[in-house]
Amino acid sequence: MGVADQPVLVVGASGPTGGEVVAALARRGARVRGLSRTEEGGALALAKGASEVGIADLRDGAALTKAMEGVGSAFYFCPRADPDEASLGRFFIDTAVAAGVQRVVIISMLHSHSPIPNHEASLQVEEKLARVPIEYVVLQPAMFMQTFPSNEQIRDWGWIGRPYPTDVLLSLVDLRDLAEVAARALLDDDMANGSFELCAPGMLSIADMAAILTDELGVPVEPREITIEEWAAVRGEGFESPHRRETYTAMFEYFAKYGFKGGNGLVLRHLLGRKPTSYRDFVARGGKTAPAPSQPPSTP
Ligand SMILES: NC(=O)c1ccc[n+]([C@@H]2O[C@H](COP(=O)([O-])OP(=O)(O)OC[C@H]3O[C@@H](n4cnc5c(N)ncnc54)[C@H](OP(=O)(O)O)[C@@H]3O)[C@@H](O)[C@H]2O)c1
Repeated sequence: MGVADQPVLVVGASGPTGGEVVAALARRGARVRGLSRTEEGGALALAKGASEVGIADLRDGAALTKAMEGVGSAFYFCPRADPDEASLGRFFIDTAVAAGVQRVVIISMLHSHSPIPNHEASLQVEEKLARVPIEYVVLQPAMFMQTFPSNEQIRDWGWIGRPYPTDVLLSLVDLRDLAEVAARALLDDDMANGSFELCAPGMLSIADMAAILTDELGVPVEPREITIEEWAAVRGEGFESPHRRETYTAMFEYFAKYGFKGGNGLVLRHLLGRKPTSYRDFVARGGKTAPAPSQPPSTP
């Protein structure tokens, strides 16, 4: 039996990342088992197009094994900046091997070799996949366009900003393009045992993005360098553990020095069979779905 004939397990199916993958798989007619820690999360996964729900915490081997029953391929990413990122990834892979899952598809990072804690952890998970008897696909995406506030928030606030200079160049990707490629990796056989950098073509600075937003939203949008506290307020990031603050601080210091270099769209174009979504296309489409309202931070 091929992977496409069996249920596909999707981690984080209640959230924005797994949710887009669930929707992309559902559009392809796949039988999707959305993983969540709660029944409420399971309901969100069903609303996004999952046909069934698996309830498990990534730390609970017995529940995870049950959620993997009969699964052909599994989509995995570690929840952002988790202090146990590397061990959770290794545990998921070992559990999948033991459960007889044929293929694991993971979201790692563009430049997983960079000296940033969560990039280093992603690299360890990639490496684990090379040492176990299971098919793998490693997706190495650029910065998600959805990581920035919604069009509505940016229009209301009149600025876009991050905790690094507004002129450093960043490589971006639309989460929906990433999800479409993930669905292909989970269902088709031609990406098996490969690693793929996923970027929209070119690089943009925050200043370039502000200019595009000004054009597309029809209001002036100012580029700003903000503090990490202001960024945390916008994102609703509570820095629950010192690890989270250290991870984000290291990442922003790295971006301030080097940007997030990349932007070769050749692989993504080939895998999608169409032009990847540009940041201008993304804003014109409506940007990301507006999240729960949050207060803009005070003016820097
Ligand atoms: N943002 C970017 O620009 C970017 C770029 C490249 C790579 N990435 C990577 O993409 C991934 C996105 O992560 P995210 O946190 O932002 O995703 P997210 O889409 O916000 O997903 C979080 C989901 O993870 C689930 N979850 C959290 N803890 C869990 C646990 N212990 N067990 C089971 N499920 C758990 C939650 O589901 P329930 O609450 O329903 O259980 C929640 O819906 C990360 O690996 C990140 O490193 C991001």
